[in-house]
Order: sequence, then C-alpha cells, then structure tokens
Amino acid sequence: MNDSVRDERDAAIKSMGLYHHVDRVVNELRELGKVEGEPLQANDLTAFDQLHYHGTDAVDEAIRMMGIGAESSVLEIGSGFGGPARHLAAASGAAVTALELQEDHHLVAVNLTQRCGLADRVSHVCGDFLTHPLAGTRFDAIASWLALYHIPGRGVLLDRCRTLLADSGFFYAEDLYERRPFDGTERARLSSELFANELTSSDRYRRDLVEAGFEVVVMDDMTDDWTAFTQIRLAEYVKQRERHLRVHGEAVFETMCGFYETMVRLFAGGKLGGIRVVARRG
Ligand SMILES: C[S@@+](CC[C@H](N)C(=O)[O-])C[C@H]1O[C@@H](n2cnc3c(N)ncnc32)[C@H](O)[C@@H]1O
Repeated sequence: MNDSVRDERDAAIKSMGLYHHVDRVVNELRELGKVEGEPLQANDLTAFDQLHYHGTDAVDEAIRMMGIGAESSVLEIGSGFGGPARHLAAASGAAVTALELQEDHHLVAVNLTQRCGLADRVSHVCGDFLTHPLAGTRFDAIASWLALYHIPGRGVLLDRCRTLLADSGFFYAEDLYERRPFDGTERARLSSELFANELTSSDRYRRDLVEAGFEVVVMDDMTDDWTAFTQIRLAEYVKQRERHLRVHGEAVFETMCGFYETMVRLFAGGKLGGIRVVARRG
C-alpha cells in the first residue's frame, strides 16, 4: 500500500462533516453506562454505528439478496465504525474483512468489534481500497454501504472487485448517483461537502458493471426512499436537541445538523439519487 496516498485521502475526506467527530461513539457508550474496555453487545450499538440508511435492516436485505451464510467470506469496502460488518458477521456467521480508509474510524471499529466478542469473525483492515493489497484473498461477496461515491475511477474499482471475487461471487452496493447533471459549481461543492469523487448516471453505473464483467441482477432506485429517510432523520435529530447537546455538546450537534441538512437539500434538489445494486461476477 502507498501510505502517503492513503494519508492524503484520509485527510481530504475530513471535509465531510459526518467524519469530524469520532468522539460521538465514546459519548454514546458513556450514555449507555459503559466504561472503557467493558464488553458490549453489537445490538446495543446500532443506533450510532451504522453510517447509512435503514441501519441493520439494509444489511439484512444484503444478506438475503446475496444468500450469505456461515460459510461465506465477505469484504466490506468503506466500513466506517464497523457496524455493518459486525451485524453481517453476527446475523449470518460469515467471515468479514472490513476495510476502512480513515484510521480514527478504523481504530474505533477494532475496539468495538473486540468488545463485542466478534474479532474471530470480523477482521479490520485500514487502507485505501484502490491501493491496499488484500493479498491473495478471494471473497464470495463484496459489499459496500455509501462509500463507493467517495472513490474516483469506477472502472478501476470494479476491476479490482472482479479480481478479488470468487467465480459467480456477488457485488452489492448502496451508493449515490447523478439523476440529473450537476454543473461545475455543484460538483465542486459536492466534492467538498460529501467528498463525492465518482457520481455517474445509473445508466453509466450499469455500463461500468457490464464492461467490468458483471451481470447486473438488481438495480433499485432508492431516491424516494432515501429522500424521505433523510428528512425524518433530520426532524428526529432536531427534536432530540436537548438530549444530543447533553450527550455530545454543541460542536457535534451543529456539525451533525449541518450534515443532515445537506443530505435533505441534495436529495430534495432532484439531482442526487440513491441506488442499490446487486451484480454477479460473470
Ligand atoms: C458513509 S461511510 C459508511 C460506513 C459504513 N459502510 C456504514 O454504513 O456504517 C463511508 C466510509 O467509506 C470510507 N472510505 C472512503 N473511501 C475509501 C477508500 N478508498 N477505501 C476504503 N474506505 C473508504 C470512509 O472513510 C467512510 O468511513
């Protein structure tokens, strides 16, 4: 792995408010009455360790759609605090490799997984998917929740996925896409607010998959669903203002509100879309 490239990306991605306050997790654990090192239950963490839409329900859907079971090996690209990887392993028994770019998120994930007693089934790896060797490994499935739009060069990314997958292995992604074209100013803003480096149309998404040697099994447009989800998320967060100020303080509250507002604005604007893709290595 080229560490300096990873370090640059790790620093650049912090332009996105969602990634500013890793201490959110520590605050939530304190609120649960847990002291450092105390054992945890994965189910107790799901309110704050899932950085995508519909939390563990979305992960259960992925398990079902790909037929993942106790014999499966799964790579998650962009695993954040490790919530989806832990749920995947706990619910299906699969062995999960959880790859995360940001070192601070990775270290939190390692700590939580170990305390949940899942370290035998979830291996955390810190690195950039485009450069990390993941040496010699082949997976039955590769899954990703809201991470791939960060990674520039869909063709290269899909070629890597194909190389890392077993024959007929599954690729599953929940991702953002471009419903209607963004102009240059909007793209620059998206690059900073969301660290969005790869937003294509859904047609282009499909073509990229086919050109990389995948058969597209499912391509669901999630935009309406995620538009409603983000609106409810913002309203609920604001309603719980006193609780969040007490648990996290003003800086976290303002940052998270700002990020949740950004997502509401972008989905409601009609140009940003959400997509769920299941494809099979041909
Ligand atoms: C919105 S978060 C989602 C985290 C997790 N999938 C979840 O749903 O809880 C996206 C994650 O992808 C990671 N990421 C972005 N680019 C990456 C890359 N090139 N390689 C590995 N991880 C990456 C980010 O650091 C971030 O933690």
